[in-house]
Amino acid sequence: MPEEKLTIDHENLPTKLGIEFVTKFYRLFKGAMIYDRRNVVIDRLTQECLQVIHDTLQAEGNLYFKIVRDNFFFNNIRVIVKADRYPIFKAFWQEMRRRRIGEIEFSAEMGPENLKDLIYLFTGLEENNESNYLYIQKQLECRNIESVHVDKLESFKDEDIYIDSEDQRRYSKGVYFKAIGLVKEVVESIHQQKALNIRKAKRLMQNAVNAVMQDDSTLLGLANIKNYDEYTFNHSVNVAIYAIALGQRIGIPKKHLSHLGMAGLFHDIGKTKIPKEILNKTDKLSPEEWSMMRFHPVIGTEIIMRMKEWGELSTRMINGAFEHHLRYDLTGYPRLTRKKKITLFGRIITIADFYDALVRPRVYNRFPYVSEKILGIMLERSGKDFDPAIVKVFINMIGVFPLGTLVLLNTNEMGIVTQIHEDTELIDRPKVCLIYYSDGEYRRGNVVDLREADQGAEGFKRSIVKTLDPNEYNINVAEFLI
Ligand SMILES: [Fe+2]
Ligand SMILES: [Fe+2]
Repeated sequence: MPEEKLTIDHENLPTKLGIEFVTKFYRLFKGAMIYDRRNVVIDRLTQECLQVIHDTLQAEGNLYFKIVRDNFFFNNIRVIVKADRYPIFKAFWQEMRRRRIGEIEFSAEMGPENLKDLIYLFTGLEENNESNYLYIQKQLECRNIESVHVDKLESFKDEDIYIDSEDQRRYSKGVYFKAIGLVKEVVESIHQQKALNIRKAKRLMQNAVNAVMQDDSTLLGLANIKNYDEYTFNHSVNVAIYAIALGQRIGIPKKHLSHLGMAGLFHDIGKTKIPKEILNKTDKLSPEEWSMMRFHPVIGTEIIMRMKEWGELSTRMINGAFEHHLRYDLTGYPRLTRKKKITLFGRIITIADFYDALVRPRVYNRFPYVSEKILGIMLERSGKDFDPAIVKVFINMIGVFPLGTLVLLNTNEMGIVTQIHEDTELIDRPKVCLIYYSDGEYRRGNVVDLREADQGAEGFKRSIVKTLDPNEYNINVAEFLI
């Protein structure tokens, strides 16, 4: 069960060393992307990384790190990552994957300069070049560095490997809009009492999981855009995407993630039985109308229970539908006669649902809250409405500046957040697509990384000064994001 993954025994030494190694190696790697090799920061990070390598060689005689699919092996033992370290592992995984490197082995101690050689070779690699590992091997040979060996990333037939990020974005976009189409179909088939196409939904959620695992920025970006017209359909898809991305970050295994996506996609299925006049009512609901509204988790549960062909999936989907308004402390609805603990799926979907419901405009919420404010509300209600541990991970995932946020930089440039770095320390330094005004419209400029250091001066080249409202500038964020 997914719950088990969250309470891991870190006592075992290889796991501990493995986690230390990835953390230190990734920090050095990240440092090397910003600073040059004579910088004092690099010296310190190199020393820290050498220390773990040293400790591992002392304890185990060898250090062998390998990535297989989305798993990490350290000296042939699978490293199970706790939620707090997950962002670093995910970021490291993505960097390695982009460079098509899957194995690193240290067989003897090495000096700081050699480790620096290795790290700068890594940062300088081309993306998606299958022969990167040969290049590094050759370079290490030229420098007489024999104690390190790197190898390519193994690829598997059933894995979706994207050749370039453009393809990947297109793929993610396809998944998103197909999912919206599917939700429409589902709503129709319920109205017409036809059977649902469950296989299609399952396949789509598997694709969504693949896309999120590869790089969740496009899907999260699409989910974050607020100016869609068809709230209901988008809402279901967004909840599925937030749930998958969140589930992934807290370590839910891949095979359960698509179930989580299904549970997210169908969490409000009970609303299909509520009259449209009530769903779309702009005025305040009467007490009777409210009580009908509040009945949708129960109706949803009934609908799902009637689908016999859903098998083991149905319990998980029921969790999503039945529990998403219950709240962590059970003060929500439906009222329960007996206390129960909300399932992990239920807790995740509650968070995804709450955020998406507040962030976008809809009939009874004309002015969408900015996400900063919603995250603040969520933090405030953490432990009451929401599972505190999962809320923390969620806030981290959405970031201070969510994807698609329009921002003003200290250079007086305007930009749109297109990628958030996984590392919490850099959460306020996303990648930003600059936009400029020319010939009567806003145009796309370069994508800049706010981690970039200012040459010749301390600090960073660009920083965010404040967020701007795209409506005020008549900017269609979606156009710049995909
Ligand atoms: Fe709901
Ligand atoms: Fe909902």
